[in-house]
Amino acid sequence: MLLSKFTSFFSDDIGIDLGTMNTLVHVAGRGIVLEEPSVVALNKDTGKVIAVGTQAKEMLGRNPGNILTVRPMKDGVIANAEVADEMLRYFINKSRGHYKVMQPRVIIAVPYGINEVETRAVQDSAKKAGAREVRLVEEPLASAIGVKLPVAEPTGSMIVDIGGGTSEVAIISLSNIVEAESVKCGGDAMDDAIKDHMMKVHSLLIGERTAEDIKKKIGSAYKVDNMQEEMEVSGRELGQHGNSLPRTMTITADEIRKALDVPVNQIIAAVRRTLDKCKPELAGDLINNGIRLAGGGSLLPGLDRRIQDQTGLMTIVADTPLHAVVNGLGELLKMPNVLFGQPQNASIGNAYKR
Ligand SMILES: Nc1ncnc2c1ncn2[C@@H]1O[C@H](COP(=O)(O)OP(=O)(O)OP(=O)(O)O)[C@@H](O)[C@H]1O
Ligand SMILES: [Mg+2]
Repeated sequence: MLLSKFTSFFSDDIGIDLGTMNTLVHVAGRGIVLEEPSVVALNKDTGKVIAVGTQAKEMLGRNPGNILTVRPMKDGVIANAEVADEMLRYFINKSRGHYKVMQPRVIIAVPYGINEVETRAVQDSAKKAGAREVRLVEEPLASAIGVKLPVAEPTGSMIVDIGGGTSEVAIISLSNIVEAESVKCGGDAMDDAIKDHMMKVHSLLIGERTAEDIKKKIGSAYKVDNMQEEMEVSGRELGQHGNSLPRTMTITADEIRKALDVPVNQIIAAVRRTLDKCKPELAGDLINNGIRLAGGGSLLPGLDRRIQDQTGLMTIVADTPLHAVVNGLGELLKMPNVLFGQPQNASIGNAYKR
């Protein structure tokens, strides 16, 4: 007891939601201390890191010739190990208190069903970034805990966490994932669908920031009241002879909703497949408990309504959907002895039960 108090004065336990789009950090006893885009800006010639997070995102799409902006995460897993190490080191250091001299213990959320190589990549990266010990937890479990679903109870709860790279669908009971699916379709795929639409229908080339902006301003999955109906978009219009000129045009919410149909239907299909596999008793629970949506993608207006219509289950967006996973990690950090006391590969769900 005394020893653990002593160590916690010099060290800290940290929860990291290492997302494709955003990284959030919760420090035990302090709450969420960091929330920044998962972006790194590098000097093209030397490979040296110029900026990380919010600062680096501002350079995205606008970088001068010698700056390269990189997203080290793709589809929820590490795509560029070297850059991911640098990014994690920066975020961990920025999150820590001044007096902490010992390396921190870290818990990181990872997509459901990632393979051994992907698992090891996250563990290695966290160690290289300065973690003393690393534990991993499946993202949908963390998300369900974070939105306060009764995961430890003998009843079925369903969470759908729609991130930038993946959508994680899971049915959880007695602290364990009973059925789940992770599909590589989330907010990024929505942005791509908007980009493709603008090119195909309007011959307008737009960047990823513009596509995301369109989605957030007039994107929807269902026609909802009080929505902005149109907006102006600027890009480069491609001419017939391969030339292009800057152009601004007006687009409508209706056309963007249609453009978003493909990724939206993919997410709904994953929800339905998971329900199809579910045991009858748990299916019965879900009739009462419904479906909870989390992750940034759940903020797309009308997505809850579409899922509700297609499953017949009450569907509700969590209060702070972007914080669901990191809040879940914060809850898990409240029982450090159980969490870090068990072997590295043990199921976190079993620990949460006790
Ligand atoms: N108001 C909004 N409407 C629609 N989409 C939104 C809105 N706000 C944020 N998003 C989208 O949410 C996504 C980011 O969500 P989140 O931070 O949960 O992802 P992530 O955790 O980084 O990704 P992953 O879990 O796949 O690794 C982005 O695609 C972003 O465009
Ligand atoms: Mg996420």
